[in-house]
Amino acid sequence: MSIKESDRTIASVDIHNFLRARRSVRRFKTDSIPVPVIERIIETSTFAPSAHNLQPWRFAVVADLSARIRLGKALTTKMRADMTATGVPQSEIEMRVERSMRRLDEAPVVILLCRDVTAIRKDEPEEVTMAIQSVAACGLQLLLAAHAEGLGGNWICWPLYAQEAAREALDLPNTWEPQGMFILGYAEAEPREKNLKELESLSLWI
Ligand SMILES: Cc1cc2nc3c(=O)[nH]c(=O)nc-3n(C[C@H](O)[C@H](O)[C@H](O)COP(=O)(O)O)c2cc1C
Repeated sequence: MSIKESDRTIASVDIHNFLRARRSVRRFKTDSIPVPVIERIIETSTFAPSAHNLQPWRFAVVADLSARIRLGKALTTKMRADMTATGVPQSEIEMRVERSMRRLDEAPVVILLCRDVTAIRKDEPEEVTMAIQSVAACGLQLLLAAHAEGLGGNWICWPLYAQEAAREALDLPNTWEPQGMFILGYAEAEPREKNLKELESLSLWI
């Protein structure tokens, strides 16, 4: 079950520091990511916990540039329509669409993380929430596994607003419900320092 010692890229025993060092990365070098690295990231992410151990996560790996552009166009078409309907100025819409397309264009790999709607115990709202929470746990594990490989990544929520369009653009099975999109690559620059909320304001010790 564990990966081989020779495959390991984290030698540090300081797992806390490793976890704290993960950051969102949105700009990448042009270097491609070797396929075994992508496979290892996905495999590690599947070790995430899931409600009833149903493992509802599914992965659409979009490495091909034309498929990334197809996905980007599907998402930004919906984005443009939604923003137009809410009165966002045209110049801002075009700026955001262009930025979104650039991100998909520059990232060497895009992974669309989906929930299989059939991987559920009962069709009850709480069970649906648990399945979505399980997929989210997998998403974090995916980002951490990418970090372990020296890669940067960013979780992007746009597919939530265009689930049908994303599924159609990639010709995914009908039961795959897109939950989030992950752009992965080698970071172009160091991230800025992170502002964290005061720890005291976040927890109650009862
Ligand atoms: C559910 C979820 C959705 C997110 N959606 C986006 C997004 O659409 N675009 C984006 O640039 N970042 C997105 N992020 C990344 C957050 O902006 C980022 O995690 C946060 O600012 C903290 O920074 P850090 O990841 O560097 O610690 C998302 C993160 C999560 C967990």
